[in-house]
Amino acid sequence: MTCSKNPEEIKKIFNEISEYYDKTNNFISFFTHYIIKYLAVRELNIKPHSMVLDICCGTGDFTKIIKKLSPKSHVIGADFAQNMLKLAKIKNPNGVFILADCLQLPFKDNEFNYVTSGFGLRNINNRSRAISEIYRILNHSGKFMHLDFGKHNFIGNIFDFIVPVITKILKINTEHYKYLLNSRQDFPEPEELINEFENCGFKFIKRIDYLFGVISVQIMQK
Ligand SMILES: C[S@@+](CC[C@H](N)C(=O)[O-])C[C@H]1O[C@@H](n2cnc3c(N)ncnc32)[C@H](O)[C@@H]1O
Repeated sequence: MTCSKNPEEIKKIFNEISEYYDKTNNFISFFTHYIIKYLAVRELNIKPHSMVLDICCGTGDFTKIIKKLSPKSHVIGADFAQNMLKLAKIKNPNGVFILADCLQLPFKDNEFNYVTSGFGLRNINNRSRAISEIYRILNHSGKFMHLDFGKHNFIGNIFDFIVPVITKILKINTEHYKYLLNSRQDFPEPEELINEFENCGFKFIKRIDYLFGVISVQIMQK
């Protein structure tokens, strides 16, 4: 199933669901999403004093984890939905966050040692442009860690049943969550994504699958 990825609509959805976003993630994943994000960032082994950018940072989970694992790094979270960023700032009072579209990142070439992105790229129509932007701002041998749903297997399909129930319980606009479920369906599986990253110049370093492949992490290098 394909779904509209009009940037203005996407921004509106995330601005509107922001206050429920963390709560829903906790319920849907039985609180495992944060642990997986933590394990994924740990795989990067971020060196002290690195420049790290988390794109599509949402409510700032990755920013918090990166700062915890590498306190001496300079971490920036970027997102185009203001309400998500407000929550990120509450979660990370000393964090640096910018309102920015990841198709046009306001950074110079080669500025970052690491870029991370969780559940972000699947909201973007022009994915190759976003990947090229990530490549542009990374320095030589800089690393990109991408995390999202992985194989479209039957375990992942359980979400199709759980999510409508949870959104009903939490009294959330079910249309918005329909979009989130559909955006998962038409997002490429990890092998295809790795090809897309390689087509933009990245070298493949590592892939780690969690929860029987429901979540997949790819680490790429410039
Ligand atoms: C599903 S949330 C993921 C948030 C966070 N990374 C996490 O793992 O919890 C996707 C985020 O991507 C942001 N986003 C979508 N398209 C974007 C774009 N073109 N530029 C910047 N942010 C974008 C949305 O506003 C939203 O906060």
